[in-house]
Amino acid sequence: MKTFIKIALVLALGLSASSVLAFHDAGVAYCAGCHTMHNSQNGALVDAAHPAGNEYLLNAGNGTDTCLRCHAGYGQFKNGEGFGPGGDYYWVTRTFSWVSRGATLSSPGDSHGHNVISPARGIAQDATLANAPGGTFLSSRLGCTSCHDPHGNQNFRLLYGTQLGPKYDGTRYSFAYPAPLALGNSRNTYGTQPGVETNTDHTIYKSGMSNWCANCHTALHDNNTTNFVHPTRAMGSTIAATYNAYVSSDDLSSGDAATSYWGLVPFEAVNVDLATADPANYTQGPTGQDEVMCLSCHRAHASPFNDIARWDMSVNLISLSHPLTTDVGFIQTDVDRKYYNYTFVANQRSLCNKCHVKDEFDHAGATH
Ligand code: HEC
Ligand code: HEC
Ligand code: HEC
Ligand code: HEC
Ligand code: HEC
Ligand code: HEC
Repeated sequence: MKTFIKIALVLALGLSASSVLAFHDAGVAYCAGCHTMHNSQNGALVDAAHPAGNEYLLNAGNGTDTCLRCHAGYGQFKNGEGFGPGGDYYWVTRTFSWVSRGATLSSPGDSHGHNVISPARGIAQDATLANAPGGTFLSSRLGCTSCHDPHGNQNFRLLYGTQLGPKYDGTRYSFAYPAPLALGNSRNTYGTQPGVETNTDHTIYKSGMSNWCANCHTALHDNNTTNFVHPTRAMGSTIAATYNAYVSSDDLSSGDAATSYWGLVPFEAVNVDLATADPANYTQGPTGQDEVMCLSCHRAHASPFNDIARWDMSVNLISLSHPLTTDVGFIQTDVDRKYYNYTFVANQRSLCNKCHVKDEFDHAGATH
């Protein structure tokens, strides 16, 4: 009955699922949301762009096209207006370049995100990386359903875990690590919607994210000291204290642990109780047990910057982050949206300083 009401509602709404209407509902959604049995309804094609139908009887070109029928508008592919924790896949379609000391440098679209192949949205396979760095997962097989289970489960964001891995060329790719423990806000991530990431509204990450990324990026992960890669493990009391004290490059010491959380530099709060914590109001900074993780520096979907970085890692001042209005390929809205609604002091240096305060002895007001 519940399902029947949902189908009726969705048909009545012409498939424009509203926020009151759960779709996946932490499980498998009604099949026709994504599949068509004959590519025919009321004598008309369901997917007019593909008269012969699609693989897996999907109702749009491929799995990713199918997800984006709904999710593009929620902010997962929305002209850079998607200010969600995962990020807006629009950025993988944007390339910026500029001349610096005589050399042409660039920030190519394919380095801005996981290139989830979507013919309908113009997202092609990553042109640079043939597979996941540090692992074997082929770029030619990357889509939304490489990470999210289209048939749902009870994991954070329907992510795959050890029970079942993603479809991979007819078989399944096996995941060695379970889905991370975390709690997020709405999937609507644009405008004034509740899914927009800020310093108070953001995913609360508890544990397991770095291991989860290592399902595909095995060698880039290190929670011991055998490889020379940035650690992903407990921050320790000194770095936690630095994080809590740090307000900006102009104020390294007046921060308060109760309000020091930066949405742009998240960490795993390993002792948080996800049953009572509120991801729409969480400002508590770290203790020494809390962990630096992959998403302290990266986004899971896409960002305006190389290497899916949360901030531009190739400039010394945040104000010099590309895209700039002097870049080839920029449009004004790209420049306006690159840092969501976050604001910075004019002199703000790299956000690595939130944990490391290497801007301690800098000249205030330096411009290059
Ligand atoms: C949110 C979208 C979505 C919904 C809802 C959905 N599917 Fe799927 N389904 C997919 C995608 C995408 C694939 C292609 C394989 C992949 O990417 O994982 C697929 C593949 C399949 C397959 C073949 C591969 C496999 O996993 O066995 C079957 C069978 C299937 N779906 C049945 C169903 C049934 C039955 C329902 C309803 C109870 C359903 N699906 C609901 C998206 C969906
Ligand atoms: C028919 C529209 C529709 C389609 C198609 C669709 N979704 Fe969703 N999706 C929704 C709605 C509505 C929600 C919010 C309610 C919910 O979670 O059930 C949502 C929520 C989600 C969430 C957040 C769930 C959570 O636990 O917070 C994820 C992740 C997601 N979708 C992934 C996908 C993927 C991957 C596909 C393609 C396989 C897909 N969706 C296809 C409508 C859709
Ligand atoms: C299902 C496999 C899979 C998982 C899980 C996965 N990745 Fe990836 N990742 C890939 C593949 C394949 C590529 C190369 C293709 C591309 O960049 O589009 C890639 C590329 C990247 C890149 C380089 C992007 C570029 O083009 O320069 C970064 C950074 C990255 N992943 C970070 C992460 C993080 C952080 C996580 C965990 C939140 C994660 N990945 C989880 C498969 C995966
Ligand atoms: C490489 C793995 C990966 C791929 C590919 C991927 N996602 Fe996600 N997605 C995640 C993770 C991890 C999160 C949680 C991000 C966070 O909270 O920081 C997430 C979050 C989300 C959310 C919650 C809202 C948000 O923006 O954070 C939705 C909805 C979603 N994904 C849908 C999609 C859709 C649709 C696609 C394909 C167009 C997709 N995802 C591709 C890993 C992935
Ligand atoms: C969320 C906090 C956090 C952020 C953000 C962060 N780091 Fe770290 N970093 C750590 C921790 C924790 C360690 C381990 C320190 C220790 O064990 O003493 C570390 C160690 C290091 C080391 C020393 C590694 C070694 O083997 O001695 C370097 C270099 C470093 N970080 C650079 C960076 C750079 C560059 C950035 C920005 C791209 C950055 N970090 C961002 C927390 C962070
Ligand atoms: C302290 C910040 C930081 C942390 C933590 C971090 N990365 Fe990175 N990552 C970077 C930077 C900066 C780059 C750019 C290349 C470089 O410096 O090696 C990068 C590059 C990458 C690339 C692209 C490599 C290539 O060959 O193009 C991948 C993939 C990646 N990171 C995955 C991960 C995964 C997975 C984790 C967690 C296990 C992680 N990163 C943790 C900062 C970080």
